[in-house]
Amino acid sequence: MTTQRIDCRELIDPHPLLHLPTTLQNAYRAELARRGLLEEAIAGTTEKQIHGGPTPQETLKHFKYRFANSCSRVVCILVDPASSFASLPVEVFQSFSSHKIAVLDAPCGAGASLLSLLAVLATARAHRQLPSLPLTVGVIGADVSPTALDIYSSIANALIPEFERNGITLNVTTLNWDAAQINQTSGVCDTWFATHADANEYFVLVGNLSGITEPTIVQAFQRSFEHITARISNVASTVLWIEPIIEKSITKRIKEIFSFSWWLKPSEDLAADAQSRFSWRQPIENKTIAGTVMVHRYERKDGGIA
Ligand SMILES: C[S@@+](CC[C@H](N)C(=O)[O-])C[C@H]1O[C@@H](n2cnc3c(N)ncnc32)[C@H](O)[C@@H]1O
Repeated sequence: MTTQRIDCRELIDPHPLLHLPTTLQNAYRAELARRGLLEEAIAGTTEKQIHGGPTPQETLKHFKYRFANSCSRVVCILVDPASSFASLPVEVFQSFSSHKIAVLDAPCGAGASLLSLLAVLATARAHRQLPSLPLTVGVIGADVSPTALDIYSSIANALIPEFERNGITLNVTTLNWDAAQINQTSGVCDTWFATHADANEYFVLVGNLSGITEPTIVQAFQRSFEHITARISNVASTVLWIEPIIEKSITKRIKEIFSFSWWLKPSEDLAADAQSRFSWRQPIENKTIAGTVMVHRYERKDGGIA
């Protein structure tokens, strides 16, 4: 069992300033350049409400100006400079330690959350902070935006060689998915289980839903996540849900997505709304930014039928 916290200067220097893993920074910069977006991303924006969406315009705006912010939240949770998250980072590293884990990343956007998690893991392995046991990560990335899925595949491919150097085999399948269509959610789950029938653990990663506040969309997401959590009710599973710190009313609404899932227990030693404020270096704009993150984790480790 991994009990160690990670402490790499590549990720935190000087303490408590956080950095995105270098390989992820490079892959992000290269993808921005490949799409002709680097200059705009360097200039940044003062616009606040950027959440992505189905169209290429919404997706590319989010990718230019907010992709790194999503990454920084995952770095904060895993490095945990202010010790805000109890044993959560160790538990995540335990889930991603060896054998095979099947991840459902939904809605995945361009993959900021999962690719950051894996890039931090690879960095910690490269710095001998965690054991480099063979690990296969099978991912279904599902989102309504085809452009986001295309970017996800491209960045994942760019990172695969570095992951392999550190014992991590990554297989990503992307699926176009509208959460409002419950039959599509059912199909996504079918593909997830059929493609990764031999996984030791099923891990649902939900990153940054806070932009999705339209009541009809929230309802659709609730139905879809009810389905997803029912599908993992009799297997060893974890749900990790990551958001910036948001208004309590929005948190409450989104939390209802998971509240009926009695078979998923919230982590016992994680405060109900574990959160952290942190400073991080935005590598493209080359400036230090204040960030916030809150996280919820639900698990069913026994995998038995209740
Ligand atoms: C703020 S992004 C979060 C993406 C990613 N999880 C992250 O952490 O960067 C929200 C995502 O929700 C997706 N989305 C919005 N409505 C959706 C729907 N009805 N079905 C599936 N995805 C949707 C958007 O395309 C966008 O990629």
